[in-house]
Amino acid sequence: MSMTKLEQARHYEAIHGAGITPGERPLFHLTPLVGWMNDPNGFSLYRGEYHLFYQYYPYETKWGPMHWGHAKSQDLLHWEWLPAALAPEDAYDNAGCFSGSAIELEDGRQMLLYTGVQQFPTEDGGVGHRQVQCVAYGDGVDYQKYEGNPVITARQLPEGGSSVDFRDPKVWKEDDGWYAVVGNRASDGSGAVLLFRSEDTVHWDYAATLEECRNEYGRMWECPDFFPLDGRYIVIASPQEMQARGLEFHNGNSTLYSLGDYERKTRRFRRAQVRSLDYGLDFYAPQTTLTPDGRRVLIGWMQSWESCGSQPVGAKWFGMMTVPRELSVRDGQLIQTPIRELDGYRVAPVHYSAVKLQNRVQLPGVEGRTIDLTVRFRAGEPGGCRRFAIRIAADERFATVITYFPTKHILRIDRRHSGFPYDVVHIRDMEVRRQGEALKLRILLDRFSAEIFVNDGEQVLSSTLYTPQSARGVSFEAEGSALIDVEKFDLAL
Ligand code: FRU
Repeated sequence: MSMTKLEQARHYEAIHGAGITPGERPLFHLTPLVGWMNDPNGFSLYRGEYHLFYQYYPYETKWGPMHWGHAKSQDLLHWEWLPAALAPEDAYDNAGCFSGSAIELEDGRQMLLYTGVQQFPTEDGGVGHRQVQCVAYGDGVDYQKYEGNPVITARQLPEGGSSVDFRDPKVWKEDDGWYAVVGNRASDGSGAVLLFRSEDTVHWDYAATLEECRNEYGRMWECPDFFPLDGRYIVIASPQEMQARGLEFHNGNSTLYSLGDYERKTRRFRRAQVRSLDYGLDFYAPQTTLTPDGRRVLIGWMQSWESCGSQPVGAKWFGMMTVPRELSVRDGQLIQTPIRELDGYRVAPVHYSAVKLQNRVQLPGVEGRTIDLTVRFRAGEPGGCRRFAIRIAADERFATVITYFPTKHILRIDRRHSGFPYDVVHIRDMEVRRQGEALKLRILLDRFSAEIFVNDGEQVLSSTLYTPQSARGVSFEAEGSALIDVEKFDLAL
């Protein structure tokens, strides 16, 4: 008997996933079991464990017909792979099971709500595509697609909404039913976040348009999320074809958050502020969930679509998730910090205080590729430091360089010498929001990435690196006079 596509994927990943040793992967960032990963999907709690699915093509390290890969975790840092959950093999998702979300139902089942991409022959002999929303139900391992799929189609769209760009449903439950936000392209060609409601998870009605791009922030908006946070509301979206604005956004695929207020009765969201969610080189399509103790936690795809072609030679997996981040609102801005569970895995502390920088300084004990490093910088005297730099993952040949220009408040990441085979975009500058010459950076290094949390999470820069693991050095340097405090832990998970 021939295997279904899902059986084929499960068979393939079991064999080839086992061929990748733990040392070839990050220590605590989730990678695909084998092959390709993009967006986080279905990030949710089910039967007391965190589940994280992902856009998945097991057979190659490049994007292909989308499956859903699957992993679960107790602490959001140790992940256990489960067999692939969905494969593109039904009439309504024959060209891909695109991004979506998951939720635990009262009857004990887990529901997946995802986008089916349907390919069909057109009247003129060509090929057409449309996107519809579908559900599947399961027990945390095996899922059955609903026989009545699709559950949301173009028929439920407001006038002018695109049936081609209509994807990435994010579901949650309220007292009066299930809600989902879905990304769509409106009649002006630009993105919109639509709100749908259902009383039974299979009949859905359009309820409102929550946020609209109006061609101001890119074009199509992918992977929306929407949630209350510390008395305000946040819409997250990942626009395509974004145009840079100063240093706030960058060209291409970008992720923004819109912070504002929401009136539930009228279903109106009023935006107060739109900002970048991450200023690094690799971040897209994040998704959030709530922990049992009420924390809103976000995970993103730590990759950019633009640089997917620049993979390490011989890669067996490609694409990884960011560290999970706790979200909060402070002084009207979104704050992101690494989940506190990570603190439990910090060992071998090394401290230095008020180190005066002259030329390049290496501090004994401060090195490594799986470390949690906090650096507090201040100028020796006001205006007295023109440039301060930290070199990480460094040896004679390689280094990823984080540079701060204190009088300009600019922070730069430069990974030109970080092991990439091709010259894609490797430098990015960010304006540090908190004005003042002092700066605090918490840098998480995990073999193939660096995540930089600036000034207690006011801004974040996430970037992948493929520097050989033997490049473990860390050094500090300043032009002018500077003082630093350093706190470094090894991460042992
Ligand atoms: C975002 C995205 C989604 C889509 C998925 C396909 O990265 O383009 O909009 O569902 O990836 O893999």
